[in-house]
Amino acid sequence: MLKKSFTETQAFQQLQSAFAQIQAVHLTQLFEQDAERFNRYRKEWGPLLFDPSKTHLNDAVFQAMHALADELQLSQSFADMCSGVAINETENRAVLHTALRKGPDAEVMVQGKNVIPEIHAVLNKMRVFSDAVINGERRGYSGKAFTDIVNIGIGGSDLGPVMVCEALKHYQVPHLQMHFVSNVDGAHLVETLKRLNPETTLFLIASKTFTTQETMANAHSARTWVLKHYGDEAAIAAHFVAISTASTEVAAFGIGLDQMFGFWDWVGGRYSLWSAIGLSICLAVGYSHFEQLLAGALFVDEHTLQCDFEDNIPMQMAMIGMWYTHFFHYPTYAVIPYDQYLHRFPAYLQQADMESNGKSVDRNGKPVTYATGPIIWGEPGTNGQHAFFQLMHQGTHIIPADFIVAARPLHDLPMHHDILLSNCFAQSEAFMTGKTAAQVKQELAARGMTTAEIERHTPFRVFEGNRPSCTFIIEQLTPYTLGILIALYEHKIFFQGLLWNIYSFDQWGVELGKKLASAILPEIQDKHKSLQHDAGTNGLIQHIRTKSDM
Ligand code: F6P
Repeated sequence: MLKKSFTETQAFQQLQSAFAQIQAVHLTQLFEQDAERFNRYRKEWGPLLFDPSKTHLNDAVFQAMHALADELQLSQSFADMCSGVAINETENRAVLHTALRKGPDAEVMVQGKNVIPEIHAVLNKMRVFSDAVINGERRGYSGKAFTDIVNIGIGGSDLGPVMVCEALKHYQVPHLQMHFVSNVDGAHLVETLKRLNPETTLFLIASKTFTTQETMANAHSARTWVLKHYGDEAAIAAHFVAISTASTEVAAFGIGLDQMFGFWDWVGGRYSLWSAIGLSICLAVGYSHFEQLLAGALFVDEHTLQCDFEDNIPMQMAMIGMWYTHFFHYPTYAVIPYDQYLHRFPAYLQQADMESNGKSVDRNGKPVTYATGPIIWGEPGTNGQHAFFQLMHQGTHIIPADFIVAARPLHDLPMHHDILLSNCFAQSEAFMTGKTAAQVKQELAARGMTTAEIERHTPFRVFEGNRPSCTFIIEQLTPYTLGILIALYEHKIFFQGLLWNIYSFDQWGVELGKKLASAILPEIQDKHKSLQHDAGTNGLIQHIRTKSDM
């Protein structure tokens, strides 16, 4: 793998001159210059349409991006990742979430061993288990069928499964309710368990390491809740399963290895929903839908391997993101699904993207001299329109956005879907075209305002426009198309890591806070312990010590 960034390439000069040409060009001018722009840039691939035509692309920019992709060998690096090369060098690991989507006949070698048979053995165990819980064969300790599943996990062991279970609610098994507990704030567990019956509740303890403080605290409290009800240790085996790579820690918790669903260190936490971490998904929607999710992601893996820059959607998404982060200096990027089922998609992407590319040291150990991963955020449309869109339309920050919508709804309220679609398309149109002072004046005059009134009101009603966006249209939200969407963003993140020459698959930045929290915990529990922090932190701890006396 090359260890140079986009700024160290020859293509970078090409991009700089393309930028100099296009930076002052309004997006509407690009459409005036080329009415075929939509057809030129949109890509249709299976059930997906990707439209980047409302971004600052032209032939020169596109060619420079293509040259950059070639010079940085993006395709080769993707192939390396998929074939098991240990590209996560800071943790000395392969990165193989793509292997999790492959069929049983594939071969992916890690340290001389084909990992595909193990993957399919775990998938088979997930299928048998989820079928048995769904059809009531697998029951609680007192013989009652399960009605509620509680997944206890955090970060990648929570966000991916929650997002998918919410997204696929339409396909949900009706007699099993899913719950997700992630926060160590006891309120999360207490409020979840309040309405549940221990005899009909199954807990999935999902943790790659099985040492994460929040998950272990929640798992122990859940265990106490079950034990308190039954007064019998033997009940635990019937009500708890573990999903982890750490069999020793799982056994120490008291869950037998037959009750454990394993995965491997080459599955990153934020890329793990395709592994046994997806057990909650199998239980929520049935194993065959989980298989469809994997198939959608595999479709994108193959697309990404086969297509060069001209057709490669994740590669183009990555370039457009870099284009706005580095050249235009736009520090945030919004993802706006016009789909209520996708309401957790932006939250999921925050971890996937920001934990991967929130780095400031390059792969040579040197500080980077350019902005890396943007701040990812978003909410579903149309809700966002009545919240933060004002700033996106008329604020001082320009925020590129991805709009995601399905052509056909899953419900039978067609009027609602027509309204949803019209809003989605209207927003990207408004972001791009804006409204000039002349248009505003004409409108106000038509409403009968005096000249003085028009002059007074016009400045507030002008929209500059020129706000870029990409639109993604899927045919319908299914497990397959959801798999497509997720994998597109996974690979975008991968390619951006290459452009920025950073390691996308470690997360050292979350360690410091964890370590300090372990030091502070005993200081909160024992108020006589001396405090060795900065004066501000000491002050906060002292304050809490006085409050806990009250
Ligand atoms: O936030 C740090 C992190 O390590 C994530 O990368 C991971 O998804 C999360 O914690 C949970 O880790 P685990 O699955 O080991 O409990």
